[in-house]
Amino acid sequence: MYFMKHTFLPKAYVNGTFVAFEQANVSIATHALHYGTAAFGGMRGFVDTENPNQTILFRLKDHAKRLSDSAKYLQADFSAEFIENAITEFVKQNKPTKPFYIRPLVYISDLGIAPRVHDAEKDLLIYGLEAGDYLTAEGVSVCFSSWSRQPDSSVPLRGKISGTYITSSLAKSEAVARGFDEAILLRTDGKVAEASAMNLFIVRNGTIITPGVEQDILEGITRRSVLEIARELNIPVIERAVDKTELYIADEVFLCGTMARITAVNKVESTEVTPNGPITKQLSEALNKIVIGNSELDCSKNWAVKIDY
Ligand SMILES: Cc1ncc(COP(=O)(O)O)c(C=O)c1O
Repeated sequence: MYFMKHTFLPKAYVNGTFVAFEQANVSIATHALHYGTAAFGGMRGFVDTENPNQTILFRLKDHAKRLSDSAKYLQADFSAEFIENAITEFVKQNKPTKPFYIRPLVYISDLGIAPRVHDAEKDLLIYGLEAGDYLTAEGVSVCFSSWSRQPDSSVPLRGKISGTYITSSLAKSEAVARGFDEAILLRTDGKVAEASAMNLFIVRNGTIITPGVEQDILEGITRRSVLEIARELNIPVIERAVDKTELYIADEVFLCGTMARITAVNKVESTEVTPNGPITKQLSEALNKIVIGNSELDCSKNWAVKIDY
């Protein structure tokens, strides 16, 4: 079975309590399973080999706030503070000794058969699994997906709503079937949105350019971090609509997200792009230090949250 590939952290949080991961199960009639009525978060936990009794979480408050906001679309009331405390307690209960990934999920736990978000029970669950580094120094190849990124008028894109991820899943599998590593999704108007689960940046003439938050993207926390780091490093930044044709002639193209941080792109369709150009490298090195608490920049002072156990 697929899940056998993963090593899950021993305890999970469900229905307001901590139980063994194997006991954290939901009914096959769960509303979220049928209608995608859930919202999730995803964070990396870093364990310092020199201090194995401590986990470092990157931008915990921002992740908790985004999940709390996402939950509002489901009419689920989980404050950012509540989520933050639950994640902190999750880490303390599990005492991880290796780097891991945390998946909190707010979901409609009701067993009813009717698509709706009102008058339905909601719950927060959290589980985690060991997850090493996903950095690919040589970069990844990307293609343009035949699937469009949904417009914000169709699904609440600022929330990480589970049902939305059918499009990401189809786009990713299509890209892999075509021999590429990753898919770039265009908006319905043809402008570039993002990758299947990462935001996109291009570099042109020393300026980094990324689609603005009005371009049907997920408001990625890594994306925001990259923008703040770039501004502090005096790298010019523009948030604006990006055309498909710009990717073919950009000096550098990179993707970013929690799992892979900054991932250089080495090919767009059949056009080679030099991976890890100077700006990608500079931003990537800065971010890689920050996520493990080695903050050198003012903007990142409070980003690494340390949890002792
Ligand atoms: C669709 C999508 N875009 C972008 C991102 C990157 O967001 P973050 O940096 O907050 O992980 C993700 C992360 O899961 C995503 O699912």
